[in-house]
Amino acid sequence: MDRITIRTPDDWHTHQRDGEMLKAVVNYTARQFRRAIVMPNLVDPVIKSADAAAYRDRIRAALTPENAGFEPLMTCYLTDTIDPDDVAQGHADGVLTAAKLYPAGATTNSDSGVTDVANIFPVLERMEAIGMPLLIHGEVTSDDIDIFDREAVFIDRILRDLVERFPKLKVVFEHITTKDAVDFVKESGPLVAATITPQHLHINRNAIFKGGINPHQYCLPVAKRELHRLALREAATAGTAKFFLGTDTAPHAQHAKESACGCAGIFNAPYALESYLAVFDEEDAIEHFEGFASLHGPAFYGLPLNEGTVTLECVEHEIPATIGGGDTLTVPFHAGETIRWRMVEA
Ligand code: NCD
Ligand code: ZN
Repeated sequence: MDRITIRTPDDWHTHQRDGEMLKAVVNYTARQFRRAIVMPNLVDPVIKSADAAAYRDRIRAALTPENAGFEPLMTCYLTDTIDPDDVAQGHADGVLTAAKLYPAGATTNSDSGVTDVANIFPVLERMEAIGMPLLIHGEVTSDDIDIFDREAVFIDRILRDLVERFPKLKVVFEHITTKDAVDFVKESGPLVAATITPQHLHINRNAIFKGGINPHQYCLPVAKRELHRLALREAATAGTAKFFLGTDTAPHAQHAKESACGCAGIFNAPYALESYLAVFDEEDAIEHFEGFASLHGPAFYGLPLNEGTVTLECVEHEIPATIGGGDTLTVPFHAGETIRWRMVEA
């Protein structure tokens, strides 16, 4: 096969940042995807529905004319004191597509996150009643839990109970990194789904330490052992509706990654489709690529499928070492590597 055309895909987990970085990155996502879920973890988190509406305007203003049809799908950041009425109203108004649970301290800009999940039971009840999805960063944060175990422990301590307590709540277990998470999602009912990033399909934890510390392979949840990567590849490429595309593209300036305390996050938006398709190709599962990229996500969210198509061709090309310049110079995922697929410009 030397060309593949699929229905226009969506990205169900992205970080678009704000200010200059927003302008520098959003068109990479908008070029490949019709819609993207936008995470609310700005330096000042997007908590109120009105903040999400204002952020959506800033995102739209940063789009180049050829990407004007791109639709940012906004989320709000759940806190211990979140107002359930505002969340429900934001959803009814078409501003908020979903709400995000960050356990406090789990990742970049998550200090205002939830300290005890019981604090958000009232808002979860409302979301369950109105069919608004809950997106979960599924890691415990206690220092006594090994960083490589935090996702599995989250399932046992928090997620299993949460899903039982709110059986009609739509839950997306975001950017899953373990076989434990794959098994949990498969065993749960149809309202529990998961997104999978390209990096967790390509790398295991060795990549972070190969030949020295590699900050551009570091994200949260951190990549795990090879057995987990293989379970994720099987889950993504098997054609199962519960697993769909969510890049977790998380740009940080090169200097912020390459520092003594480098930020977590991998900037994969520029070649996201190419990166995923390489995996489906290697697994001999290209026939399942469209489901993962373009069909399962909208079905889960209850949104229409996109019109239009994107085409990728099989041509080897090299991913650039850096993208952009100045304060927003970034290093993309796969920098300097050769990749076999390339999106054909519309
Ligand atoms: C994300 C970021 O930089 O905002 N980082 C990451 O490693 N994925 C936050 C997140 O999604 O955890
Ligand atoms: Zn993320």
